[in-house]
Amino acid sequence: MRPSRRRWKAPADTEKRLAEGKALYEKECLECHGKNGEGNKEKFYPVIAGQHYKYLLRQMTEIRNGHRRNANPDMVTIIKKYSDDQLVAISAYQSSLQMPGAMCKPKAGAAKKK
Ligand code: HEC
Repeated sequence: MRPSRRRWKAPADTEKRLAEGKALYEKECLECHGKNGEGNKEKFYPVIAGQHYKYLLRQMTEIRNGHRRNANPDMVTIIKKYSDDQLVAISAYQSSLQMPGAMCKPKAGAAKKK
């Protein structure tokens, strides 16, 4: 088990940002990625719960900036309008989500699970 996620120091306004991220997520992402970020296997919507904050932020930034070519076009339309601050908030919220059941076992490394 690697505690790397816990070493990240939360800024003072974390609560506020998480709430902001939650609101955005529930408004625009839940439909595809699920209430708890569990995704949808049949529709190939990936799990985003419990992934590393930094990884998520990088993916989201690349999706927004058009650097991720296989990105879902409907999702790109949504993410395109987000500011850096909103991406930070939503990434923080996503990484705080936990999957119910066996799928949410702590990961040894984000790269492994693909
Ligand atoms: C129309 C359905 C849909 C919506 C709405 C949607 N997504 Fe996605 N998302 C996908 C699909 C499909 C993929 C996988 C392919 C890709 O990268 O686009 C994905 C991939 C991702 C990834 C990359 C996951 C990884 O493991 O690399 C992240 C992060 C993500 N979505 C976050 C979000 C967030 C945050 C929102 C809301 C702002 C959102 N998505 C809205 C369908 C959607």
